[in-house]
Amino acid sequence: MIDIHSHILFDIDDGAENVETSVSLCRQAADNGFNGIVATPHFTDYKNIDRFVMERDAKIDLLREILEEEEIDITLYSGAELYLDSGILTAGDLDALTINNSRYMLCEFPLGPFDVERGLLELVELCDRGYTPIVAHPERYYESHINPEFINRMLRRGAVFQVNADSVAGNLGGLSQEIAIDLILGGFAKFIASDAHDIKHRNYDFRRKFSSLPSVITQTYLASCLIDFPEDVISDEEI
Ligand SMILES: [Fe+2]
Repeated sequence: MIDIHSHILFDIDDGAENVETSVSLCRQAADNGFNGIVATPHFTDYKNIDRFVMERDAKIDLLREILEEEEIDITLYSGAELYLDSGILTAGDLDALTINNSRYMLCEFPLGPFDVERGLLELVELCDRGYTPIVAHPERYYESHINPEFINRMLRRGAVFQVNADSVAGNLGGLSQEIAIDLILGGFAKFIASDAHDIKHRNYDFRRKFSSLPSVITQTYLASCLIDFPEDVISDEEI
C-alpha cells in the first residue's frame, strides 16, 4: 500500500514533532502493510517555494538514511499539501510540489470559511498548468462549506478526491463517514490516505481503524484506493 497524504516529516509543519516520531510513524506504517509514503507537508508560502523544497528534501534524505539503518521497508516520495486560498494564481513553477514529480498535486481548502470562487479559480489554474489536483479530505469540512454543488463544480474542473482513513472508519463522526463512503462508492474519491500527524491519533494503525468497516467498503475498494490508484500516481499514469 502507498499513502499519498502524510505529515511524517519532522519539524516542518504541525505533523511529526521530531525525527523519532517520523521513524515511529514509518515503522507503524510498515507493520500495517504500507511500503510507500508520500511526504506532503503543508505548503502556504508561495513566495518561497525553493526554500520549502530544500528543507523538505533534506528531511526526506535524512529520514531515508535512518529507515535504511533501522531496516524499515518504506519508500519515501516527495510531495506537498498546497493551501488553496493564497498565492497559486501568481506563483512561479510548482513542479517541485507535485507528488513524486508526477502530474498530481495534493491540495486542501481552509478548514474555516473561504472564498469558494477563488478556490475554484485556483483549482482551474492548477489544471491549466497541466496538473491534476487531488483535493484532500473534502468530507472533513463538508458541513461548513463543501456541499454537493461545490463537489460537482470541482469534479467538472478536473479534480479528484482523497478521503481520510479516519473518516472512512467513522472516527471523525457519522456525517464525515457517510460522505467519505459515498465519494468512494461513487468513484469520485480515488484515494484513502492517513493524513498522519502523530503516533497517537492520526496515525498508521490501519488494522484497528479498519477492523469494523461498513460492509459496502469491500476489499476491492480498499485495494483500489490504497494500492492501485496510488501506484498510478507514483508512476504518473492516468487514473
Ligand atoms: Fe494533511
